[in-house]
Amino acid sequence: MKRTLSIIKPDGVAKDVIGEVIKRIESNQLKIIAMKMLQMTKTQAEGFYAVHKERPFFDSLTDFMASGPIVVMVIEGKNVIDKYRELMGATNFEEAAEGTIRKDFATDIEKNVVHGSDSPETAAFEIAYFFNTFEIASR
Ligand code: CMP
Repeated sequence: MKRTLSIIKPDGVAKDVIGEVIKRIESNQLKIIAMKMLQMTKTQAEGFYAVHKERPFFDSLTDFMASGPIVVMVIEGKNVIDKYRELMGATNFEEAAEGTIRKDFATDIEKNVVHGSDSPETAAFEIAYFFNTFEIASR
């Protein structure tokens, strides 16, 4: 699997860093092969983050993810899952490396600007959650 799902979260859209995130993807030999802006319902956010449903932050996370528009993208490239996670930085922005998206723009462990799939299995589920085959370009 050389594809991953990226989300620019509601805080990232509100901070006007959509272009900044896209620039970092495109300038690191990764290609955007599908993209759209939408707003999830609470139920859709709960479905997306179902693996976290026992976590104490689940209710707050799904409220936040449904609170405003997001940008979802499918990204393709060599080692894309690890590479995009490197570009994002650690989940907790305080632990994120210099020059990463979260270090530069996140202000909160929950409102951390971006999401990226963490394994090929997760990527397959997450891509199919937002896109059908006809919405994904081959480049
Ligand atoms: P994400 O990579 O989208 O995966 C799960 C999300 O839960 C995470 O980013 C954060 O937005 C959110 N979250 C909130 N609190 C925590 C926490 N304590 N640990 C991990 N993730 C958290």
